[in-house]
Amino acid sequence: MKFLLEKGGSVEIVLVSNNIHPTEKGRELLDFLKEKELFKGKFNEVYSDISPKGENIILLGLGDEEELTLDSLRKAFYKVAKELKKYKIDSVGVTIPKFKDLCYKSTVTAITEGFLQSEYSFDKYLSDKKDKSSLEEVYFDVLEEKKEKALEAIKEAEILSEAIFLTRDLVNERPMYMYPEVLANAAKENLEELGIKVDIYNKKAIEELGMKAFLAVAEGSSKEPRFFVMTYNGDPDSKEKIALVGKGLTYDSGGYAIKPGDSMDTMFTDMAGSATVIGALRAIAKAKIKKNVVGIVAACENLISGSAYKNGDIVGSMSGKTIEVLNTDAEGRLTLADALWYAAKEVKADKIIDLATLTGACIVALGNLTAGAITNDEDLMDEVKKASELAGEYVWQLPSYPEYKELIKGDFGDLKNTGGRGAGTITAGLFLEEFVDKTPWVHLDIAGTAYGDKAKGYLPKGATGAHVKTLYYLVKNM
Ligand code: BES
Ligand code: MN
Ligand code: ZN
Repeated sequence: MKFLLEKGGSVEIVLVSNNIHPTEKGRELLDFLKEKELFKGKFNEVYSDISPKGENIILLGLGDEEELTLDSLRKAFYKVAKELKKYKIDSVGVTIPKFKDLCYKSTVTAITEGFLQSEYSFDKYLSDKKDKSSLEEVYFDVLEEKKEKALEAIKEAEILSEAIFLTRDLVNERPMYMYPEVLANAAKENLEELGIKVDIYNKKAIEELGMKAFLAVAEGSSKEPRFFVMTYNGDPDSKEKIALVGKGLTYDSGGYAIKPGDSMDTMFTDMAGSATVIGALRAIAKAKIKKNVVGIVAACENLISGSAYKNGDIVGSMSGKTIEVLNTDAEGRLTLADALWYAAKEVKADKIIDLATLTGACIVALGNLTAGAITNDEDLMDEVKKASELAGEYVWQLPSYPEYKELIKGDFGDLKNTGGRGAGTITAGLFLEEFVDKTPWVHLDIAGTAYGDKAKGYLPKGATGAHVKTLYYLVKNM
């Protein structure tokens, strides 16, 4: 899909809202449709007049301009792009007005994103691929004085969409092909070409680092674990570093606390946190953001075998703290314990964000729409919230009163890896806090947002790529 800043296209999209009324093209059609109550200009309403004798226009309702947001623009233009594909239209034009409360550049980014989102599918294993007829050219008629900004906006949307698609592809890939070594190599393949250094540690090197909690989880698999560190130095003049840590379970069977089959069949997505970090780093480097960022992933599989760790084990960790494993299915926090300690103590990051498909409890609390957040630093939390609003990706902070920590205090080890039935997302987050050593930190539980069992808005069924944009804007605006 190519974007051109001029008038053109075989079909024109005509925007209709309470403040915008089509002037020449579409006026007559709109009056006719309004009269018949066939099209009212409500948000996300689409009417196509495409036939040999038609006007070759698509009316797109935007509803009340006061209520228009960047995310609603993404959704509306995604819908139009899908409609255009249905009609096998290969070029389209639209005049982009200045909407009342929206920044013009962000408007262009959001509209471009909407178009681009329509391009994604994960169909590599389908014998009968869906028709891939594609929209080749999109003409934007933009305000003359904003042409420069519009070009930057399009570039940014292209970078973000490509990164999101990478994240989705990594998450959607099936576990027989996607195991720790493959994930680490994928990071290398997608990041090194952009000047990001990717260091990969094998099992022996992980043992030398003393990552005992991570290794305990990895023990049950015949596939070796990998620990990998992705270093982007966008601002060599600064010492400041932000660490992005992602959960990297390429499969989570639950281990001896084995999951029932219907909870296990999507557990190849349990590396979504790490895929989000890889996608975000790609976007950050491609956009040449002037910041220093270090991505960190402890990748392994949680399986059963004669050497697997067991419910009841007490394991060590890189930090020296010991952990009672009450449940082998609470494995993510064990791998993250060592990855976070590495971020705090070896990388000496100034700020840490971690992303993890950590708890089913988070899906119970917030569904698939919103990620749960836990923090030890309200200022960093505010930055994450601002970035997530720009991105159109919801985040909701959960309480972290110190009393909750009682629930994960160990009896025979320093900590236990589950805190009982209540407040599962909070106790999981507070467990992680034990390993950041007071570094400003925000944890995002993305168990619900990383993967959808049906398509929603511009998000497809399957991996969503959610939070790549949040990380990008967070780093960019820091
Ligand atoms: N990977 C799961 C969490 C999960 C569940 C992600 C559903 C996506 C969809 C995690 O490792 C897990 O199993 N958590 C347990 C923790 C419990 C044993 C304390 C859970 O949520 O049941
Ligand atoms: Mn688990
Ligand atoms: Zn898991």
